[in-house]
Amino acid sequence: VATLYDEYAQAVRGGLGAEPITGAVLTPIFQSTTFVRQTVDQEPAFSYSRSANPTVAALEQNLAAQEGTSHARAFSTGMAALTTLCLAHLRAGDRVVAADVVYGGTFRLFREILAPFGVACDFIDTSKLDEVVAALESPARLLIVETPANPTLKVTDIQACADIARQRGVTLVVDNTFLTPVLQRPVEHGADVVLYSTTKYQDGHNAAMGGAICTNDGELTERLHYVRQAIGTIQTPFNAWLTLQGLKTLPLRMARHTESAAEVARFLEAHPRVRTVHYPGLESSPYRKVVQRQQRGGGGIVSFEVDGGLEATRAFLNATGVIDVAENLGAVETLLTHPATMTHASVPAETRNALGITDGLVRLSVGLEGTRTIVADLAQALDCEVAA
Ligand SMILES: Cc1ncc(COP(=O)(O)O)c(C=O)c1O
Repeated sequence: VATLYDEYAQAVRGGLGAEPITGAVLTPIFQSTTFVRQTVDQEPAFSYSRSANPTVAALEQNLAAQEGTSHARAFSTGMAALTTLCLAHLRAGDRVVAADVVYGGTFRLFREILAPFGVACDFIDTSKLDEVVAALESPARLLIVETPANPTLKVTDIQACADIARQRGVTLVVDNTFLTPVLQRPVEHGADVVLYSTTKYQDGHNAAMGGAICTNDGELTERLHYVRQAIGTIQTPFNAWLTLQGLKTLPLRMARHTESAAEVARFLEAHPRVRTVHYPGLESSPYRKVVQRQQRGGGGIVSFEVDGGLEATRAFLNATGVIDVAENLGAVETLLTHPATMTHASVPAETRNALGITDGLVRLSVGLEGTRTIVADLAQALDCEVAA
């Protein structure tokens, strides 16, 4: 009998089951560094929590079930996941091509940390396929795409990039942090590797840092596992447990985040003090066609430019009441971020401006409060900015 795919059931039960000894419904936190061997030469499933841990394994099974991939590995942060991937896949002399609009930490990792080890990285506009083709005319090992991108929400066509990358033997990595498998499954569009900061939507409660890599590539997974053990970037049992609780409500939360963000984006689009609104779910989005093909919704993040430059933007950010200003996104609380001085401060000002990460750009992570509350707070803060 064919079973209908039920994403809510996958979220609640995927890869999970009652604990076999006690029958505990909720996966326990196996807060143990080490595990006893029955005999000295027995190869146990778990031996030391730097290589594997039962709570982390449960998290990985659920991540893979929701992603629809055969493997997932969990890391202490999103940056730990990307760093482990780079150390597993790259050698001195290798070249990486990455999207020009990416999380600031990704930019910093390649520019400042990996460059001195002989790994070159070229940043290009991956939303323009001719740029992707041109960049991959020279050999590269990885093509790294973030779509929608943090913070301008630029959208890249995953299937087109996958086709270009495959022909040239380049591994396509998609950072899917902004959408999660609920709204976009990059592997279904040809990506080789899906990267997450689970600190965002998977955790969803501003409780636990985390990262994940999902893939159907068994060999790469083994290599990731080996490097993770060697350098110590595995997720902790407690944070794995917290993230697992968040994962169970991921489809419900993503639906609500998306619905609310679309309403807030429409409000902002009509506001006279707001210059540009970036939201992939808007009718006016320049990426509408690609969005309809690869996304199952616009997601919960909206970015927009406040009229009047840095001072006006500061006044607006300082005037919000319910909505707090903070670095993170994807959780139940609505949060505002100022990329130029916060998440993307490590990107040089000239580069930032060229990419649209202007001093007036703010990123809004629409949370689970009622939209009445969110819209009212934005409206009064924009009015304050006018008065200031
Ligand atoms: C799109 C994206 N990828 C990766 C990261 C890095 O994740 P973490 O902060 O968990 O290390 C972030 C963090 O903001 C992000 O927004």
